[in-house]
Formats: sequence, C-alpha cells, structure tokens
Amino acid sequence: MGDAATLVERARAALSARDAAQAIHDLLRETIASAAPRELRRRLLGTEAAERMGGIPRFGQHVLVDSPELTMFHATLPPGFVNAPHDHRTWAVVAVYEGEERNVFYRRRDGSITPASALVASAPYVVAMREDAIHAIENRLATPSYALHAYGNAHFHVARSMWHPDTLVEQPRDDALFGSWCRDMIVRGVRLPADAG
Ligand SMILES: [Fe+2]
Repeated sequence: MGDAATLVERARAALSARDAAQAIHDLLRETIASAAPRELRRRLLGTEAAERMGGIPRFGQHVLVDSPELTMFHATLPPGFVNAPHDHRTWAVVAVYEGEERNVFYRRRDGSITPASALVASAPYVVAMREDAIHAIENRLATPSYALHAYGNAHFHVARSMWHPDTLVEQPRDDALFGSWCRDMIVRGVRLPADAG
C-alpha cells in the first residue's frame, strides 16, 4: 500500500474487474491490514491531517476521489456519532480500521422502512452493501471510529434517499438537512434501534 494516490489508482483499476464491488472489498481489506491505524492515517491523509486527529476529533470526510463511477473518502466518526437512514443507489464498501461502526439495516414496508438487522463492524472489518441497502450508522464507543468508504457512483452528487430519523418518512437526500438531522440526533443522544440484531 502506498499513499492515497496509489490507493485511488488501484481502486480505479479494480472497477474493471468482473465483480468490481468484490475487487474493491479485497483492495480495502488489504489496505487496512497493511499498516497500524496511525500509520495508515498518515499515509492516506498526510502527516498534518493525521496529527490533527489526535484526541477526540470531529466528524469528518476526507475525500480521496469524487468521480461518476467511484467515490472514496476517509471517514472519522467521533464518540456518540449517529446518522439517519439513507441509501447509496450503488454498491458500497466500508473498511473500518479503528474503532467500530454499528450498522442498522432497514427494509421497505408499507411505504416506510423498518429495522431488519444490525451489524457491528468492529475494526478490522469490511462491510459490503448491495445497491438496494438502506442503513444508518452509529459509534457507540468512547473513542473515534475511522474507516475508508467506497461507492460505485458519484456519492455526493447522485439523487438518493434519506428517511427522517423519527418518522421514517422517505424524502430526496439533501446534504444540509441530513447534516442538521444528524447533529440534532447527536445532541439528543439518539441511539439506533437495539432490537435490530
Ligand atoms: Fe451509508
């Protein structure tokens, strides 16, 4: 594993595999196994950005590539982080290399969604999601969670859905509103459903 540019180059090459999602999965699993967390951050984000993450960092997405067929970013989830249910409209691979991301997966029912299962992605762990996945994530630990996220589309630009955290009503994804929902959930100490698995 080299620096971020090398990772992006290898990820772009993986897109031409017969099963691109699996190839990205394998690449990210190899990447997070290639160095200790701190060293991995230094290699991927640069020394300065990595050092700023000492202590308890804030939520952050450090974008490595933003293109029509591939989006990759490094995600930092502070303790207590939680977000609202959302979809991605493509395959997704999340490689948690320090800490934990607890996922709750939802399925559609009667015009809304209902919790169907949960998955605690405890580092090192690579989560693969199909394009019809609907999920929300949280960090239940007292320490930050760090992961690499990859999506087979222009994650920040394509039309997607989000579901209100209380009413579970679906609406078009709006990044600003989604962010305000998440901040409000965090302030209120909202936790994702515990009985989802
Ligand atoms: Fe997601």
